Amino acid sequence: MSKKAQLSTEPYKGVRDFYPEDQALLNYLFATYRRVAQSFGYVEYHASVLEPAELYKAKGSENEEIVNEQTYTFLDRGEREVTLRPEMTPTVARMVSAKRRELGFPLRLFSIPNLFRYERPQRGRLREHWQLNVDLFGSKSVDADVEIVLVAYELMRAFGAQDNDFVIKLGSRSHLDQLVREHGLSAVAGRELINLLDRKGKIPKEEFDSKLATLGVPEGALSSDNEPEDIAKVIKALEELGVSNAVFDPSIVRGFDYYTGLVFEIFDTHPDNNRALFGGGRYDNLTALFDDEPIVGIGFGMGDVTIRDFLAVRNLLPPYIPPTRVYLAVTSPELVQFAMGVAKELREANIPAGIDFGEKKLGDQIKTATKHAIPFLIVIGENEQSSNSFTIKDLKTGEEKSVTREELSNFFNS
Ligand code: HAM
Repeated sequence: MSKKAQLSTEPYKGVRDFYPEDQALLNYLFATYRRVAQSFGYVEYHASVLEPAELYKAKGSENEEIVNEQTYTFLDRGEREVTLRPEMTPTVARMVSAKRRELGFPLRLFSIPNLFRYERPQRGRLREHWQLNVDLFGSKSVDADVEIVLVAYELMRAFGAQDNDFVIKLGSRSHLDQLVREHGLSAVAGRELINLLDRKGKIPKEEFDSKLATLGVPEGALSSDNEPEDIAKVIKALEELGVSNAVFDPSIVRGFDYYTGLVFEIFDTHPDNNRALFGGGRYDNLTALFDDEPIVGIGFGMGDVTIRDFLAVRNLLPPYIPPTRVYLAVTSPELVQFAMGVAKELREANIPAGIDFGEKKLGDQIKTATKHAIPFLIVIGENEQSSNSFTIKDLKTGEEKSVTREELSNFFNS
């Protein structure tokens, strides 16, 4: 017999399958994202993963690695160039511009989009990730900068992190622009400086220093002693609110061209996870792509991949608890109909109950319940059917309890 070529069960390179335990963890991350964002008055929005490619090619972003090398762009059947969104910021700027008259400002928005970047897959970097985006539109106040950093901080706390587990590094694009002017750098050299600073942690120190010298920027110009006034204000305000781990770091510049003011990244202090957990900043002109009168914005993105690594190395990941509370096994397929009636009553009392169809031996049915980590088991046989009383078994401890049909839901609800 010739062997038929079979398809691989591997997912596409750099993307993930989410089996129930992985999905439960993702749901936990999302629930925490939502709770914290909403606690600050942010409201949720959403948009399609497909965007016209021009959204990312627009205005001055030609140099960006993300547009040239990292987008998934294709022609649709109508010859339109389409991109799977690599980030949410251009989308939210587009949406806010489109409804600028209806939306009240300051406007607080959050979303949890799936994003796609053609990156070399490695620890902390995949070709697909979920990213919480928290953005505030319509305020130039430094208090808005403080609030955005505070949301990021409270997210980390909500995940169980202590202040010494992470550090909030603040930088300033306006400060950098000033530096570029002072040292007479051309626009191209200014751009190179941003790229160089953005890669500082990823390249050897000697390479960094020599490239910096080639650009004509003395190392001292990037000293953290030259703290700009606006950053000092943010750090002080945060300290007064109990945030002890925000610092000025002149090498934080962020790769995107649209940032104009405060920029920041949150880093894990654990040596195994030297990636940024969050990144964001102020972008006061992005909506100018759509309208002459720009609406100022500030926000950040936090990915699910890096926070998962952060939580894993600190044992902060919650244990998997399946939503199903009880599994009804049957001694023969003829009892399935009766079991369905019992399960229906349980569901009516808000107790999620799954049933076996009796196609396997009882021992194997119980193994299924264990594999699915379902905490309780009820075996339904002819006796249970005729007496309408059941034995509930705790599959972890082996403990058993007998109850009548009337008492069944009380057992789970008390
Ligand atoms: P970003 O720094 O490109 O910023 O991404 C923010 C965060 O998303 C990163 O710190 C990281 O946790 C996660 N992330 C990014 N790329 C990947 C990847 N390939 N795999 C896994 N995780 C990744 C932005 O995207 C900005 N649009 C954020 C923003 C919102 N700025 C203002 N508002």
